[in-house]
Amino acid sequence: MSIMFRKLGILIKSIEKNNIREKVRCASTLPQLSSEKYNIKRKQFSNVESTDVNYFKRILGEERVLTEETDVMPYNIDWIKNCRGQSSVVLKPKSTEEVSNILKYCNERRLAVCPQGGNTGLVGGSVPVFDEIIINFTLMNKVISLDEISGALICESGCILENLDNYVRDRNLIMPLDLGAKGTCQIGGNASTNAGGLRLLRYGNLHGSILGIEAVKADGTVIDCLKALKKDNTGYHLKHLFIGSEGTLGVITKVAVHCPALPKAVTLGFFGVENFENILQLYRSAKTSLGEILSAFEMADFEAINTTVKNLKLPNPIADYPFYVLVETHGSDEGHDSEKLSRFLSKEMDSGLILDGTVTSEPAKIQTIWNLRESIAGAGLVQGYMFKYDVSLPLRNYYDLVPQLRTKLNGRASVVFGYGHVGDGNIHINVIVPEYTKEICSLLEPYIFEEVSKFNGSISAEHGIGFRKPHFIHYSKDPSALQLMKDLKQLMDPNGILNPYKVLPDM
Ligand code: FAD
Ligand code: MLT
Ligand code: ZN
Repeated sequence: MSIMFRKLGILIKSIEKNNIREKVRCASTLPQLSSEKYNIKRKQFSNVESTDVNYFKRILGEERVLTEETDVMPYNIDWIKNCRGQSSVVLKPKSTEEVSNILKYCNERRLAVCPQGGNTGLVGGSVPVFDEIIINFTLMNKVISLDEISGALICESGCILENLDNYVRDRNLIMPLDLGAKGTCQIGGNASTNAGGLRLLRYGNLHGSILGIEAVKADGTVIDCLKALKKDNTGYHLKHLFIGSEGTLGVITKVAVHCPALPKAVTLGFFGVENFENILQLYRSAKTSLGEILSAFEMADFEAINTTVKNLKLPNPIADYPFYVLVETHGSDEGHDSEKLSRFLSKEMDSGLILDGTVTSEPAKIQTIWNLRESIAGAGLVQGYMFKYDVSLPLRNYYDLVPQLRTKLNGRASVVFGYGHVGDGNIHINVIVPEYTKEICSLLEPYIFEEVSKFNGSISAEHGIGFRKPHFIHYSKDPSALQLMKDLKQLMDPNGILNPYKVLPDM
């Protein structure tokens, strides 16, 4: 090879990921109430009475009904401290039957509920807006079965993604999705948001990987679509109603997921690149050169990596460059895969598309580089308030908005950066400001959504609509499609008790 790669090991000190997450969580003060911040009117649901709490205590037991303000508070606040609800009750069911009893009761009493998994959602969907009862799935965390031949895993919705991944890895399989929140997010939350993540390029989205679902409708009816079959064309594919509907059509209690084989060979490259145009050329070349073993193609600009390195004290394995690219391969033959990757690297270092880089097959080093990439999500929180956007755009226009926003904000933001899943046409744009102001918010919204709409993009590529974007959904959804969504909601949840103020604009 004509150019030597800088060695990774000596430059990287491992920092425990959970400590960083904790630091991020505690960095800011109590957020403003969502209802005040966004001027929302409470819908006409019943108020929670002591008789309601007593009913819940009877069916769940005292210890699985939280009502103390300090106990309930963390469940009212979202991960990026953008939203705060006012719930006074958290319920922790342990079975589908308990979920069904809770919903049947709430529906009859017209009590609104907010389903909550790991509460890592980034659009305010996982926390209440007013006093919705929080149904938290943490205790529904059992693996039910795993067919090691087909790869079909059946489990309860509260299983933490990382725990499932560890479980199936011991049996030579992997979960089809991976994301920075894996240590906290739950498979039910992943299904409800149709989470994308870092391997979607290779393994596809959850509409494909989820084989079956058990869910409970607003009136308590249990819908059993928990088949673990690859093929099942017996009428409507109802599982898809629950995937990505963010807890507004039903509550997911069990999931059947297809787990791919654990790749025998994993290799990761982290490269410095001169400009975004070169990233596109590199992506094109990676698809051709690496073909079926390409599992991730991610980018981050200098500001994204620099903010993460500085705020979270993480090492950057290479020097400063305007852009960074992370390329990963998952294959079955180490010799074959590393030869392919080496050829690709030599070629693109010679062509000048890659300025400098490092390549590793060592699990600890792979983990450290991924940790840098995954930590970008929360790095800005240490510094102030974070506006977060998650859009799909044609690749030619993928990065356009970042420089446009820098100009538009004209020094009002501490930093604006872009990073994301190039292979999926999905960029994340974070705008960090000292504190939230309506003035800055109105410079960003609806401007960003208008721009995305001009290119026929999506205003939410993977995080969902949640509480923050229902009034912008029309930028990406045709009125005819939106009407059908409303009709489905009316059919499945006529009293509107499931996650109100989320996903759908006012009916
Ligand atoms: P929650 O946040 O608790 O809930 C999310 C939504 O699903 C809410 O509307 C909630 O009401 C609903 N819900 C939760 N559980 C259920 C259930 N059992 N039944 C019905 N509705 C339910 N997302 C991506 O797509 N790709 C990424 O790469 C990615 N990376 C992230 C990295 C970090 C560091 C963080 C903090 C978040 C990231 N996210 C990402 C966003 C988030 O992790 C995902 O949306 C995830 O799927 C949410 O899972 P959760 O269990 O935390 O759900
Ligand atoms: C990511 O790709 O890191 C996640 O979607 C989270 C984020 O947008 O920051
Ligand atoms: Zn993402």
